[in-house]
Amino acid sequence: MSKKKNKQKYYVCNECGYESDKWFAKCPICNEMGSAVEFTADIAYMDSDNSNIEKNTSITYLDSEIDEPERLILRSKQINKSLNDGLVKGAVYLLSGEPGIGKSTLVSQLSDSDNKVIYVSAEESKTQVMQRFKRLKISNKNIGLIFSNSLEKVFKSISKMKEKPQILIFDSIQTIKSEDVESNPGSVLQVKECTRKIVEYSKNTDTSSILIGHVTKEGNIAGPKLLEHVVDCVISFEMEKTSGLRMFRINKNRYGPTDEIVLLEMTEKGLYPIDDLTNYFLSDYSNEPGNTLSIIKEGNKLIPIEIQSLVSKPVYGSPRRVSSGISLDRVFMITAVLSKKLKLPVESKDIFLNTSGGFKISDSSIDSAIAFTIISSLFEKTLDKSTIFIGEIGLDGKIRNTSHIEKRVEMAKKIGIENICISKRAKLNDKNIIKLDNISDIVKMFKGGAQNG
Ligand code: TYD
Ligand code: MG
Repeated sequence: MSKKKNKQKYYVCNECGYESDKWFAKCPICNEMGSAVEFTADIAYMDSDNSNIEKNTSITYLDSEIDEPERLILRSKQINKSLNDGLVKGAVYLLSGEPGIGKSTLVSQLSDSDNKVIYVSAEESKTQVMQRFKRLKISNKNIGLIFSNSLEKVFKSISKMKEKPQILIFDSIQTIKSEDVESNPGSVLQVKECTRKIVEYSKNTDTSSILIGHVTKEGNIAGPKLLEHVVDCVISFEMEKTSGLRMFRINKNRYGPTDEIVLLEMTEKGLYPIDDLTNYFLSDYSNEPGNTLSIIKEGNKLIPIEIQSLVSKPVYGSPRRVSSGISLDRVFMITAVLSKKLKLPVESKDIFLNTSGGFKISDSSIDSAIAFTIISSLFEKTLDKSTIFIGEIGLDGKIRNTSHIEKRVEMAKKIGIENICISKRAKLNDKNIIKLDNISDIVKMFKGGAQNG
């Protein structure tokens, strides 16, 4: 069958990637003016005999054997496990995170294995990259470095290699440029086209590729969120930059489960996975006013964590709220509920809040622990037994039940907590558990059983 090729024009928004076959002055999706860039695609038309289309497509039946994809094992046990046993050959991984969070450090460490690696550095100088490897004490003949931002030049260098790389790293995808596209590196078109070419190369050669992508403040992978559909696995690397903690989190994986996390510590000598999550955040805990514990769920893991509050008289005129690890909106909401429902004088006070290690917590089951620490610091009192709080607080002051409550309670017992406080709505019967209906029950705990700290 013969094919006729036709050129067809289409337009892509350089801001958000919206595509249209008609030119647009203002993007209908992101409202950007003048962002339409013309593109030409080769469209292949079959001539007359359409009956030939897909003539040779074979059908696979589910009783045929399902092949496991081949994988490349990395040095880190934890990362291998989170990826469901290493990197899949031919798959493309997107590692995204804010600038400066440690992505280059992480991939430098991951490239130190028995696999042949080509690390393409398109945004740092040779000295910077070499210094990083030196600092990480990595010297491995399996790692080759290419300093270029031209995708074509990279592929040309690789084509001349006798032994082809098994892992190809691009640091970063926003600084790589394909000569086939006229726009600047980092533009939607460049990022999209380079990724498409890398995906094609990886699939054709069975190479695993890792693309580093910077995210903007809003959490979008700069330029295009579009990449997420194209790659096989999306990994985020995140946490408060000021803390030494980093979270490696699998958000999408075509070859394994999602929500896998690995927590790592950033040290002078690089990133180290934390093995004992159960005890890591508890080591500094002491039962004093303003301190308490909770068990949060991050990804597929339950983690015991310490929360601290300090409630004090404002030094300046208006009261301040300073929080590390917990969103200020959450703190505002909880103080508003404490003030409105319990008439506690928290609105006029400075409130400082901390989580252990500056762990960024998004799990709302932390609410009742936050409320307890604020009340405890305000009263300058604590309870004589070790206590843990698990449960979200509603705007009406009620303590709500939380997912995986059995497992969280089990963990609290395992770490030896005496008072386990959860929502009365949880269907769990256990004589060691204290059931709370609403926030006034937290205040009542300070009466009778409470003692000065
Ligand atoms: P980097 O990996 O360059 O971040 P990204 O690629 O995400 O922009 O590293 C960011 C920070 O990490 C940098 O400020 C220095 C610090 N760092 C360490 O603390 N320890 C180390 O071993 C290395 C290599 C870097
Ligand atoms: Mg970097």
